[in-house]
Amino acid sequence: MIAYEPLPARPLERPGHAGLDARIAAALARVDRMLPQFGDYFPAPASESGIYAPIDNVEWTNGFWTGMLWLAWQLTGEERYRAVAERNNQSFATRIDRRINVDHHDLAFLYTLSVCAGHQLTGDTLARSSGLEAARLLLKRFDPVAKVIQAWGDMNDPKQRGRMIIDCNLNVPLLYWATRETGNKDFAAAADQHLTQAARLLVRPDASTFHTFYVDTRTGKPRHGSTHQGHSDDSSWARGQAWGIYGFALAWRHTADSAYLDVAARIANHFLNRLPSDGICCWDLIFTDEGETPRDSSAAAIAACGLLELSQALPLSDAMRETYEAWAVAIVKALGDHYLAPVEGSNALLLHAVYHMPNKAGVDEACIWGDYFYLEALMRLRHPWRPYWA
Ligand code: GLY
Repeated sequence: MIAYEPLPARPLERPGHAGLDARIAAALARVDRMLPQFGDYFPAPASESGIYAPIDNVEWTNGFWTGMLWLAWQLTGEERYRAVAERNNQSFATRIDRRINVDHHDLAFLYTLSVCAGHQLTGDTLARSSGLEAARLLLKRFDPVAKVIQAWGDMNDPKQRGRMIIDCNLNVPLLYWATRETGNKDFAAAADQHLTQAARLLVRPDASTFHTFYVDTRTGKPRHGSTHQGHSDDSSWARGQAWGIYGFALAWRHTADSAYLDVAARIANHFLNRLPSDGICCWDLIFTDEGETPRDSSAAAIAACGLLELSQALPLSDAMRETYEAWAVAIVKALGDHYLAPVEGSNALLLHAVYHMPNKAGVDEACIWGDYFYLEALMRLRHPWRPYWA
């Protein structure tokens, strides 16, 4: 039984169109600043002193930049964004054909936001083929005994075998997309089983979450939880909790199983009850006080999108609908007011994120997925919008 922490009501101060348009313009000004630097390259996963270096299409994070370009194109209709997004998509086609660093679960972060979005928006059939190839690779990571998608490493690596991670909740949408596109139900069946295991094993009884969990691939029995990027095995890594909110809300969209909305809501309440006063989480939810440790603005941006997805999914009669929307609005406002990178001296959107604290990588820096989800949250607040994850 997962506990349902009460969440104080929060007045909804729905922003007007003019206020949102100003925030979108500020975000797009920063995208424009990036555009000439990343024509044939991509921003690194995390900045150094607020600056993203240009990298090739080799990281798990490259899709976030392409997703930002599609969002910018949808927000403005300006062809220069589409042109670079389509160039990026050719690079994603080459990457999947040549199998360049695609032996991991992060294939929707790469392919949903790039080629699947491109196919959804423009009908590009080459993009569709690349997306389907990525989905086929993701399906190969499904272990039928453990009933999970293995996150990392070779499928026979004893250290990684049967290891699932909460981030993967945002990767299973690629499998649902592939079933819709092809009619082959194997993709969705694997996604369904993985999500069942995620809700059962990654979410603790108090609605905090494990970052990763091992399942025995010979017996199918649960083994133990463990962290990779969090403070400790029994803490809640803030970004994992945010992936959980958004991922389980999306699970309802794909499965129509309302139990996932309940899980998403419980995880959301746990997250929202552990925020410092400005509403932007510390990098691990074991920390709740300002000044104690760095924030993770990228987790906040993911959570805002998840709360908006959850709020829209709840029945109109559900009072929490408005509460979750109010929290999302407050988080987006705080990000825009206090976490936006300055126009000079940075090429990012949001500062003060943490990539990997245990490795001391990208600590109190910009992270490219934080920039993507901030722009997605603004899109969601301003326009009726079909998520690329849908
Ligand atoms: N999915 C890896 C991360 O959130 O850092």
